[in-house]
Amino acid sequence: MSVVFHEESRTFSINTQNSTYQFKVGRYGHLLHLYYGRSMQESADFLIVPVDRGFSGNPYEAGVDKTYSLDSFPQELPTNGTGDYRSPAVIIENADGTEAVDFRYTGYSIEDGKYSLSGLPAVYTEGSENAQTLRIYMEDPFTHVKAELLYGVLPEIDIITRALIIRNGGEGKIYLEKVQGAVLDFVTGDYDLITFHGRHTMERVPDRTPVGHTNQSVCSRRGMSSHQYNPFVILADRSANEDAGDCWSMAFVYSGGFKAECEKDQYDQTRLQMGLMDEKFRYPLQSGQEFICPEVIMTYSAEGFARLSHNMHDCIRRHVCRGKFRDAVRPVLINSWEASYFNFTGELLFELAMQAKESGVEMLVMDDGWFSDRDDDRHALGDWFVNEHKLDGTLKHLVDRVNDIGLKFGIWIEPEGVNESSELYKEHPDWALVIPGRKPNRSRYQLILDFSRKEVVDCIYERISNVLRSANIEYVKWDFNRSIFDVYSATAREQGSVMYDYVLGLYDFLERMNRDFPNVMIEGCSGGGGRFDAGMLYYTPQIWCSDNTDAIDRLSIQYGTSFAYPISAVGSHVSVVPNEQNGRVTDISVRSAVAMAGSFGYEFSFTKIPQSDRDTINADIETYKRLAPLMMNGLYYRLSVPLKDAFTAWEMVARDGSEALVTAVTTEIHGNMPIRYVRMKGLETGRMYRDEASGREYPADVLMQIGWPIPAVLGEYHAYRLHLVRV
Ligand code: GLA
Repeated sequence: MSVVFHEESRTFSINTQNSTYQFKVGRYGHLLHLYYGRSMQESADFLIVPVDRGFSGNPYEAGVDKTYSLDSFPQELPTNGTGDYRSPAVIIENADGTEAVDFRYTGYSIEDGKYSLSGLPAVYTEGSENAQTLRIYMEDPFTHVKAELLYGVLPEIDIITRALIIRNGGEGKIYLEKVQGAVLDFVTGDYDLITFHGRHTMERVPDRTPVGHTNQSVCSRRGMSSHQYNPFVILADRSANEDAGDCWSMAFVYSGGFKAECEKDQYDQTRLQMGLMDEKFRYPLQSGQEFICPEVIMTYSAEGFARLSHNMHDCIRRHVCRGKFRDAVRPVLINSWEASYFNFTGELLFELAMQAKESGVEMLVMDDGWFSDRDDDRHALGDWFVNEHKLDGTLKHLVDRVNDIGLKFGIWIEPEGVNESSELYKEHPDWALVIPGRKPNRSRYQLILDFSRKEVVDCIYERISNVLRSANIEYVKWDFNRSIFDVYSATAREQGSVMYDYVLGLYDFLERMNRDFPNVMIEGCSGGGGRFDAGMLYYTPQIWCSDNTDAIDRLSIQYGTSFAYPISAVGSHVSVVPNEQNGRVTDISVRSAVAMAGSFGYEFSFTKIPQSDRDTINADIETYKRLAPLMMNGLYYRLSVPLKDAFTAWEMVARDGSEALVTAVTTEIHGNMPIRYVRMKGLETGRMYRDEASGREYPADVLMQIGWPIPAVLGEYHAYRLHLVRV
């Protein structure tokens, strides 16, 4: 059993293969967190030491006992107004205008299988796994506001999820002002917080900072998970590294604004929490209504970051991503964006497909520019009608031609965007999120449609599904090219609900697409990786990782991305040099090696590249197709740190150790360089491995203890790929 309740001590233990999570119902009904760490069977309640603390209040029931204080006790769901002065997970404005929330335990239930959340993405299992759900019920006896804490357990992969439902069981209307579903309190320890920050074209750069006596937070107030901070954080023991040490992570299964906080309190205790962004959020709940705070995926590793990532990858790959493409090797594609931007015709696209086909490309993606008068980024968003003049005929005609030469066909869409010059906007100006009386803030010349309104979602859905039905479209790239800041919905009664309801509208649209078009693979995108989160991955099994296609910048971007997300989720393409984002020149072999750590494709016109590159491309596509199953399913290891080490290397190892693919890209060159060794991981000790290309055999132990020497070659940026097969 994963979830165990000990009646006498009122202690709940959640057990996974390698971890235990424990909390108990305190004397007065508060939920006190006890432990999250290595597996153990006993009670850890001795960790809570009652001490009389000055300026730390006590609940009324404690009477003269000054040692019971929520200001110092570790908790499962800290709320505002109970005497805990650390950052709360829940703040509610009650019907009487007061703000105190004091949840007390009322009961629990344990069920087999993993819970799901209505209207929201959540980790799922397919029935055969030993997943369980624990629900804890709490209520504020004064206001009758109720809290349901949900815990999902996937024991085999050391995953525990948390979500929270708030119900207004009282009489009048209340407002939720802050809701965070996951809290972890650590009574002791020195930790680092690892966050993943970035910007457009440079996403998910890890940042490791010591947790001090302060409240650190990362958040997005952009209505999207954002390029700037990813909704994934790791709390790690100061000495934790890739291979050793305690670390815990939280990943938000949500694509809107979020907040993750980490605070070290007056008694050196650390609180980590994650949930919804509380700015621009004031969610009204009438009597009887409920609100679901999206899920957080947690995992614990006693063996450093590699293991933590493996748990996350397994969870996202098999229990977040869905549909027929989840486990499929994705087609190698050619995307028209960097090949021709808005300047294409049907004929030109067909040419692009023809040339790419010769190299083994399997799908043509027609990016932005195919609808209405969309010849630049100032027009037509919202008018989802095929520009048959530009395509030299109907979409079906073009798709059939491309299908006839053996390629699949995909298209780009941006359902949430609208240009003011569009017919849609002229007809429905109030469908855009614009503050009345003010001029809107534009971004990329566009506004955002109010997806909190069902009629808006319905209209755009109908337009886009008509296009999808009109031809054999097998792939859609779903883009989102700006952040949201003008938050006003013309029909919402209360504006504090709009940001959350917007995301529900987005998910409703995506769910309909998954339901109605199960054979269409959707790739997420938001100016590259601006909405790269576990919420989107529930609907789109891969996401365009970054608009930056430079191989060297991508080393850092893909490195950071890999902490939480598997490479099957990473869209990654080869583009031209000099690179269009930073002007850097790298060899085709380097661009190819880097792009292969993801769902592979190209972004250039094959006619514009030298013949020698063509030969490399042909061979690379062949290699990709052969090794893709290993890359999609193997265990991923980071073997170096980009920019810190002289090379960046990573490895995918088959779970049975039978083969491994190691890639290394050199990033530093000096005179008379020392030899650099790529130290491998996860091979089977005592065995020999043969490098397929050279035929040379290597002992696994030496490769893992010392490493493979990178050849001393002059010049910047070389890529090396070793496909090692166990002898
Ligand atoms: C975004 C995407 C690009 C491309 C353009 C089209 O920037 O990230 O890949 O699709 O939009 O406008």
